[in-house]
Amino acid sequence: MSETTASTPYGTLPAASPLPQRKPVSLPRLQDMRERGEKITMLTAYDATFAAVADSAGVECLLIGDSLGMVCQGLSSTVGVTLDTMCYHVESVTRGLRRVQGTAWVIGDLPFGSYHESKEQAIRSASALLHAGAHMIKLEGGGWTTDTVRFLVERGIPVCAHLGLTPQTVHALGGYRVQGRSDSDALRLKRDALELQDAGAAMLVLEMVPATLATEVTQQLPRCHTIGIGSGNGTAGQVLVMHDMLGVNLGKNPKFVRNFMEGAHSVRDAMAAYVRAVKDGSFPDNLIHAW
Ligand code: KIV
Repeated sequence: MSETTASTPYGTLPAASPLPQRKPVSLPRLQDMRERGEKITMLTAYDATFAAVADSAGVECLLIGDSLGMVCQGLSSTVGVTLDTMCYHVESVTRGLRRVQGTAWVIGDLPFGSYHESKEQAIRSASALLHAGAHMIKLEGGGWTTDTVRFLVERGIPVCAHLGLTPQTVHALGGYRVQGRSDSDALRLKRDALELQDAGAAMLVLEMVPATLATEVTQQLPRCHTIGIGSGNGTAGQVLVMHDMLGVNLGKNPKFVRNFMEGAHSVRDAMAAYVRAVKDGSFPDNLIHAW
């Protein structure tokens, strides 16, 4: 085997990783990256093989998002995804990472209805995702979720919050549309973000909010890392749905997505190009994503 290839359980992969051999990704490491101004990269992952490939391409965080309802199950929204399904996919991803001594930070999405009843229900659901192998859980919304976030964090569960377009409330929002455009919506989002940081959320996904607003929120949250999707390049990191950035999508790709398979020789190449583009600031392009 040449020095430029590496043997993995999934075959021979180019060893030309965009990053040096990594230590396991942890919250202190993410905080350190933030302080050094290094962007955090995240992709969704739903199965063992793609999780292992993403990890080997240098992606720091893997989100087992409830987008799997649409991507893997063919549902029309994320609302029908169950906790059992989420646990199945978290287990698959973490098994894949174990097989290749992966180092990624693993985030499991709490699906609709699994944390809405009570804080006790939320801790049961979060525990199920942690037992399945997740390091952190993600939940959607501000306001009423703040107490739940505090309750989970006080019990040692790292939490990623999610504001802006929150797909679990797509019916209430009236579709997949940009959020935080009016002054009052922007103010509410900033207030929610601050409250979530105070409650202990260590990460915050900002989905489809104006780039200027996402940048302001990022600046006001030194201890909670904003991860943008369709929200410009002023956030601490970026996330994309893996299938979208690989150009395989049952519907229309959102306009903020780039197809990283274009010009790539392999899926791993495409993911490594995504990591490079996020880190050097060339993705996303704020001109395209200024809503
Ligand atoms: O479910 C998911 O994949 C997500 C991302 C789009 C952030 O929440």
